[in-house]
Amino acid sequence: MTAEMSPIDRAKYVAARRAADLVQDGMRVGLGTGSTAAWMVRRLGERVQEEGLKIKGVPTSTRTAQLAREVGIEVVSLDQAGWLDMTIDGADEFDQEMNLIKGGGGAHLQEKIVATASDQMVVIADAGKEVETLGAFPLPLEVIPFGWQTTRTLVEEVLDTMDVLGTSTALRMDGDVPFVTDEGNHVLDLHLHRIGNARQLALVLNQVPGVVENGLFIDICDKVVIGHGDGRVEIRDINEGTTETEQPSDSDENLFLDIAD
Ligand code: A5P
Repeated sequence: MTAEMSPIDRAKYVAARRAADLVQDGMRVGLGTGSTAAWMVRRLGERVQEEGLKIKGVPTSTRTAQLAREVGIEVVSLDQAGWLDMTIDGADEFDQEMNLIKGGGGAHLQEKIVATASDQMVVIADAGKEVETLGAFPLPLEVIPFGWQTTRTLVEEVLDTMDVLGTSTALRMDGDVPFVTDEGNHVLDLHLHRIGNARQLALVLNQVPGVVENGLFIDICDKVVIGHGDGRVEIRDINEGTTETEQPSDSDENLFLDIAD
C-alpha cells in the first residue's frame, strides 16, 4: 500500500476485515475476487497464521487462488468441498434488496457458482456501491468466443425489448486483445444505465445462445457488510431484516497506519 489509503480503500478494508471475522473454525469458505475480496483473503490468512484458524477455501478465480495459497489458506476446488458454509465476495453495485451487479473483474461465472453453492453469501463493499436501481455500472455478460458477434447482436435485440435505459454493448478488452476469462470466454459489458426489472433481465439474457452467465446476482446475497471511509461498518442482514452499525475503534486507526507502511 502507499502511505495514504483513500477513503474508498479504507472503506473496502474495514468491510473486508469485519466480514473475515464472521468465518469460524472448520468452515468451507468461498473466496471472492477483486480488491475488496483480496483484503478479506489476506485477513483470513492472518487468522490462519495467528489463531490457527482451520478453513478450506474455494477461490473464485486463479488470482484469488494464488493469493489464498500465498497467505497460507488451504485451497480446495468446489467439487472437493461439495458445499460451502459461507462465501465472502465484493460487488460492483448492490440495491436495497441485496441484488447485485458483479463481474467488474470478469470472474462472475465462478463467483455465481460458488455463491450459489453456499449456505450464506456475504457481500463486502464500500458504501459508494449502494444504488437505488441497478444498472449505472455496465452489466458484465460472459459469452463464448465462438460466434460472439452474433451473440452480441442477439443480446442487443433482446435488450431492445427490456426495461432498460441504454442498449449499447462493448467487448471488454485487455489492451489490444479481447479480455479472456478463467474459463476461456469473452465478456460483453452492457451499458444499460438503469435496469427496471433485474430479475427478468437475468433470466432472459441467459436464454441467448452463446451467453454463459450474466453478472446479475438475484436473491443470492444474504448479508452486506458495508464499509465507510471513516471506519464505520454497517452489517445488513436480509433474512433477519436487521442493520447494525459498528463504530471504528482506536485499534482500527492503528491498523490503517500498519497497512499504510
Ligand atoms: C469480480 O469479477 C467482481 O465481481 C468483483 O467482486 C467486483 O468487481 C468488486 O470488485 P472490487 O472489490 O475490486 O471493487
